[in-house]
Amino acid sequence: MDLGSPRDKTKTLTIAIDGPAGAGKSTVAQRVASLLGYLYIDTGAMYRAATWVALEKKVDLQDSETIISLLERALVELKPPDESSQGRVRVFVNGSDVSMIVRSRIISKFVSQIAAIAGVRSLLVEKQQSMAADGGVVMDGRDIGTVVLPDADVKVYLTASTQVRADRRLKELKLMGQIADFEILYKEIDARDQMDYTRAVSPLRKADDAVEINTDQLTIDEVVSSIIALAGHKS
Ligand code: DC
Repeated sequence: MDLGSPRDKTKTLTIAIDGPAGAGKSTVAQRVASLLGYLYIDTGAMYRAATWVALEKKVDLQDSETIISLLERALVELKPPDESSQGRVRVFVNGSDVSMIVRSRIISKFVSQIAAIAGVRSLLVEKQQSMAADGGVVMDGRDIGTVVLPDADVKVYLTASTQVRADRRLKELKLMGQIADFEILYKEIDARDQMDYTRAVSPLRKADDAVEINTDQLTIDEVVSSIIALAGHKS
């Protein structure tokens, strides 16, 4: 499928993609960004890096004050994928490459707890807003259309059934050489959804003006071209 070449006239658009874990946000967002010549910002990777900082320093995860002060001093950087990162954005904390560990199950297990801390969110949201300030970005996460970029030009809410998402996650982990069980993954995704949907600060929800796309029966190319078409209408 020909998805077209990057178009300069859309250079300043901001595209927000939200949705639950495993709906395909990062793959889709990365492709859209690359086709439009935009910057892709994986905000989940930032929350994962924050979780890694807390676990690595063995901080009690209830101790929000210590976690926030550690994060204020940590340098978290996102860099484009390379051959070592299996197509995912690379994540560095204080210069160390933590790209693989931040996507491990241990981080997935605790990340919702860290992402529920109001002070962690305000620190990261501020960074995300300044990264998007010049436009020309595709940002994915849980609160992009609702909190981080409420004025985004294009807002998409990607969903998929828990069954499909657990299956995708199983394949992703296999690619990383990790052993996993479908039933356990299903329960983990379900538990993470519950925490993301019900947390007090910036819970996951569809922005009123977001376009919802269910990806169960769609190919990545189909989802990408729908989003490119939405961006085309705004440019
Ligand atoms: O997209 P992901 O699975 O890498 O995100 C990891 C976690 O970070 C997810 O459980 C919820 C949280 N998150 C968030 O609260 N807000 C965001 N903008 C992005 C991610």
